[in-house]
Amino acid sequence: MKGLFVSFEGIDGAGKSTHIDALAAALRAQGRTVVLTREPGGTPLAEKLRALALNDAMDPLTEALLMFAARRDHLLQVIEPALARGDAVLCDRFTDATFAYQGAGRGFDLEVLATLERWVQSVDAIGKDGIRQPDVTVWFDLDPAVAAQRLAGARVPDKFESQPQAFFARVAAGYAARAAADPRRFLRVRADQAREAVWREVEAGLRAKGVLA
Ligand code: TYD
Repeated sequence: MKGLFVSFEGIDGAGKSTHIDALAAALRAQGRTVVLTREPGGTPLAEKLRALALNDAMDPLTEALLMFAARRDHLLQVIEPALARGDAVLCDRFTDATFAYQGAGRGFDLEVLATLERWVQSVDAIGKDGIRQPDVTVWFDLDPAVAAQRLAGARVPDKFESQPQAFFARVAAGYAARAAADPRRFLRVRADQAREAVWREVEAGLRAKGVLA
């Protein structure tokens, strides 16, 4: 089987987690070996970087560099070997999150992010003409006002979850811009529906993209 790389994106509160688990079960039922992972994180080093990036105050460049440093380790240690084995890699967030959060949210230079993206996602398996990107990105699109209601009182917020709604409005616009730039990769799901209805959209969209049989 050929490797499959699916990422999941959306503002905090968009409700990705249960659908990632459901997709893992659906793919396993079709005989695939599934690797569930997340960013920032997914390796011992990247999980240490995650703890720093999500809890310590820092300037946007430092934040972006930590995200990409974690991503490089994760790609080389986990994602590339899994894809080489033919596994399905389901990754809770990937580079689109950096463009949405550090780029659109924090207002950090998108060209610098694009340069880092090229450096970090250049891998042997792709060669020098391209970079590693997810085959499909499931984007849980949700109104920031609805996300704020969902998050309110849910748990102790981390550095990003405690940002004001205006920040998430910019992050949401950042995701929309990334999706518009690469519509074939993105599957937009309307995340303001009941969980079962959201899952039906995920399932139907992934069938249309050939990810699910
Ligand atoms: P999240 O994926 O929501 O995990 P949890 O459900 O455990 O809270 O948390 C990751 C946070 O990190 C989220 O607020 C988005 C942020 N983030 C960035 O700012 N840039 C990135 O490149 C990535 C991958 C995540």
